[in-house]
Amino acid sequence: MLGVLPVSASIGRTRAEHRPGPDSVDRRAKEIVARATLDEKIRLVHGSTGGLQKAGETGPYSQNTVDGAGYVPGIARLNIPALHETDASMGVGGAGNDRAGPRATAFPANLALAATFDPALAGRSAGVIASEARAKGFNVLLGGGMNLTRDQRGGRNFEYLGEDPLLAGTIAGEQVAAVQRQGILSTIKHFALNAHETNRKSVDARIDRAALRESDLLAFQFAIERGHPASIMCAYNRVNGPWACGNAWLLNDVLKTQWGYKGWVMSDWGAVHATDYALNGLDQQSGEQIDKQVWFGNPLRDAVVRGDVPMRRLDDMAYRIVRSMLAVGITDDTAPRPIDYPAHAQVALQVAREGIVLLKNDARALPLAPGIKRIALIGGNAQFGVLSGGGSSQVKPSNGETRSIHIGGPGEMEGLRREIWFPSSPNAELQKRLARTEIIFDPGQYPDSAAALARSADIAIVFATQYQFEGADVPSMTLPSGQDELIKAVAAANRNTIVVLETGDPVAMPWLKDVRAVLAAWYPGQEGGRAIAEILTGEVNPSGHLPITFPIDDAQSQRPALPNLWQPDGADVAVDYVEGSDVGYRWYARERRTPAFSFGHGLSYTDFTFSDLTLRGGKTISVTFSVKNIGAREGAAVPQVYLTNAAGRPVRRLIGFARADLKPGERRSITLQADPRLLGRFDEASKQWIVAPGTYGVMVGRSADAADLTGSARLQGRRLAVDWTP
Ligand code: BGC
Repeated sequence: MLGVLPVSASIGRTRAEHRPGPDSVDRRAKEIVARATLDEKIRLVHGSTGGLQKAGETGPYSQNTVDGAGYVPGIARLNIPALHETDASMGVGGAGNDRAGPRATAFPANLALAATFDPALAGRSAGVIASEARAKGFNVLLGGGMNLTRDQRGGRNFEYLGEDPLLAGTIAGEQVAAVQRQGILSTIKHFALNAHETNRKSVDARIDRAALRESDLLAFQFAIERGHPASIMCAYNRVNGPWACGNAWLLNDVLKTQWGYKGWVMSDWGAVHATDYALNGLDQQSGEQIDKQVWFGNPLRDAVVRGDVPMRRLDDMAYRIVRSMLAVGITDDTAPRPIDYPAHAQVALQVAREGIVLLKNDARALPLAPGIKRIALIGGNAQFGVLSGGGSSQVKPSNGETRSIHIGGPGEMEGLRREIWFPSSPNAELQKRLARTEIIFDPGQYPDSAAALARSADIAIVFATQYQFEGADVPSMTLPSGQDELIKAVAAANRNTIVVLETGDPVAMPWLKDVRAVLAAWYPGQEGGRAIAEILTGEVNPSGHLPITFPIDDAQSQRPALPNLWQPDGADVAVDYVEGSDVGYRWYARERRTPAFSFGHGLSYTDFTFSDLTLRGGKTISVTFSVKNIGAREGAAVPQVYLTNAAGRPVRRLIGFARADLKPGERRSITLQADPRLLGRFDEASKQWIVAPGTYGVMVGRSADAADLTGSARLQGRRLAVDWTP
């Protein structure tokens, strides 16, 4: 790789020399910062939005920026390259007018990726995104969105990785590692507790500290340990009082001191409110035009000159940025280059194939029988394509023109509020596979006409959509625009009704008992129409498993009403996360509530059995079991291991998972070892994980509430320091 950051003043070294070991990374970063002037250090610690320059702005940043989400100028004298930042959760996104063209491979929602339970695929897809980013001139990916789903109506859940710390942390860690292997810096975000979008810039997210350590923070810890992200993006919201980006407890105490994180903290865009955030742990102000002031420009410079912010703190800020560049071996080779879109589309397709979840399949309604004469295909724009989620993560797909409706609405994100359909038609893809079947489409606007069509068909397939968008939550789990009435009318007209959901969250299904099958396709990305058709027809065997609980309705959930609904933007409001670390399925287990579909649930066209459980205790729990495909076709099992009892305390906690592709009759033995932090509690007073001595109950099964095997093991009990890593 050309043009990686030189580690001393001399340019033109080989890549091997640019990737020094950790000690020399630290030393060389210090050397570089020691040579930087005050102004140069200040220049490193704030950046602009790449594509949204304020009118008339001609500052140092507007030249040379790639039109992405953010830009921090480099320092040529010290061979420090500029940071060209792009959003990248589901493909290279952001403003999109970058040099190698505005289009990029549009991957399925991250929730679909989490539903694959396939960390290797997460790495592959992130690697593809990184290579496209590089070809388009970017060297920082603002990816790795991983806030835990605490509310089934959360507007950005589709960008995140579900409700479980182990699953989310593992997938995010793999994404980061794959990106950084290419000399592209990666972030994880939004640190922390940005679980609601309603009033995201003013809401105080309140939670017990130890509970936060055992849930959202543990997810970040797992991702950091696995991926070593160059940077962490702090969140818009407050956490127990102070704003996340100026939160000394979160940034200085927990992240940097207790965990020993060596990278830098960048702000979210418009999340900085004062210069003294530097003292509280923020290292870089991003998207500065959006904030009231360029706090980390002249105001910070003046504060350093006055001595209000010590020079050694500014040195540390600059050091962390330079150190991460060296540790990753950042590329400054941002020349445009061609992108192999067809090959990349195959990876997006694979994520959709593995991530779509078959929720219900009564009477083996799916896969569709080849001899079906007539299908009524209804709603969801299915004649054209598939829906995507909105906001900064939006990608313009590489495979053609989208259909877009600017739906508008209140709030500062109004301009970005567009329902965008990718051109991947489930209708056309089904037709390709069912050449002898007559497929007739009805847009689903009038339940009566849709029902009339359904009555005349052998099977009705209804596509139901729910648009989710950054900056707002949905007010309830109810499908919008009367789609429940549509599905009810169709199901009443034809008992062979199948529903395909394209949603960013769980939705209420008041018609569930009246339909034969339900497929959760999330936002399935630019190849989504094909993946849906492949699964409906059986060309692909579904293997996705829910990374979030699907409650029956809002009334059944932790918060029947969406907190702060209808409060004006910017209102001084709070959310109390009283469920603590019992996020999602853990809360449903604790409260003994049976959701519509549990975390981990997902059906297949084949069947699996689990057997031969052996458990080993001692310092942690080791689980060995066998999984066998007893059906007639190849498929992937996703066995999950849950802790059910911790030394007398009933719990439900994912402590291990696997994904096994099995041929008919094939059996595999799987061994998983639990991270002991998942077995214990965090004690805030002693800053330790405490694993009590005693007997620990474990179940192996196919979802959080379906145990195939149970057993127990004795643990000797231990205390682990706050910075303990496996
Ligand atoms: C989002 C971030 C994103 C940034 C830059 C913000 O509105 O919260 O996730 O990376 O914009 O586009």
